Amino acid sequence: MSLILGLETSCDETSAAVVADGRAVLSNIISSQIDLHRKFGGVVPEIASRKHIENVLPVIDCALKEAGASLGDIDAVGVTYGPGLVGALLVGVAAAKALAFAGGKKLIGVNHLEGHVFANFLAHQDLEPPLVALIVSGGHTSLVHLESYADFTLLGQTRDDAAGEAFDKVARVLGLPYPGGPHIDRLAAGGDPEAIAFPRALSGEGYEFSFSGLKSAVLNFINSARQRGETVDAAEVAASFQAAVVEVLVAKTIQAARDAGVDTVAMAGGVAANSGLRTALSRACAGNGIQLCYPPPVLCTDNAAMIACRAYYQYRGGDWAGLTLNAVPALKFGEKRYAVE
Ligand code: KG4
Ligand code: ZN
Repeated sequence: MSLILGLETSCDETSAAVVADGRAVLSNIISSQIDLHRKFGGVVPEIASRKHIENVLPVIDCALKEAGASLGDIDAVGVTYGPGLVGALLVGVAAAKALAFAGGKKLIGVNHLEGHVFANFLAHQDLEPPLVALIVSGGHTSLVHLESYADFTLLGQTRDDAAGEAFDKVARVLGLPYPGGPHIDRLAAGGDPEAIAFPRALSGEGYEFSFSGLKSAVLNFINSARQRGETVDAAEVAASFQAAVVEVLVAKTIQAARDAGVDTVAMAGGVAANSGLRTALSRACAGNGIQLCYPPPVLCTDNAAMIACRAYYQYRGGDWAGLTLNAVPALKFGEKRYAVE
């Protein structure tokens, strides 16, 4: 049995997890800083780094304890080295290097976006590549083809805002707390998705996305209504906005799966928790004979179990990083930026 200790500090969650053989989560401790950042309406990088420094060792201790393991039992330490906030990433990378060096363990550099996709292997024990994955988070919107556990092709991504970013900005203008995605999701359930015709950007044009025009259209709609002294029906705006995002995500994901010739689609990232997206994509997949997987909410948002899962497959493939591993804030899906040991 291989035991991997995973570490995740790329944004505002400090997380450590122990995963056995890439599939069994023995512990997954997540210390969220959301309350700390909420009053600023978003993540403040400097505050995030400081909080990670305070939290990282207690969170690791807690993860080992809950798994009933000691550092000596661990085979490798897998850590997110990008993409993310550089100061935040550095805390996890430094901790992982210290543990690997002190304990004589293998060090694995994990791509955060690949981790999000691999969360599906924790949630669905029989799931295996090939598959097409839709990654929708606060920082990313991408479609990828996983040919195997080690071979990935980026099919397309957003040209501007990520889907989650659009959710958060629209929520902010509606006066909802940060992060706004879950609030829009709840509001949308009580509104008419066809009430307002918001734009569907780049429909039918390959696998690239664009959400900044949609975001501006929603903000303009709200501001003009307010200027005219009209009250904005927040549920209608939320439902119509969400429908515009979901329609484009679903159409492109189905197209990608058909073009790649796969019969499995996996969702990943915080926005994969969106109920409108889950319902619409489930329906579209069923209509096309495609199996749809998504992780439970706790594995959709940032967590170290998904990092340990990704690390396990790298460990198995001899893809080990040396102690020169460094944070790479703009790392892309499928990209590697370290010297293999
Ligand atoms: O993957 P994640 O935890 O962090 C990043 O790596 O970005 O995703 C966070 C994003 C936020 O933008 C949040 O508003 C969004 O996921 N989100 C949702 C929902 N739950 C979280 N967006 C829409 N509907 C939801 N239910
Ligand atoms: Zn993430």
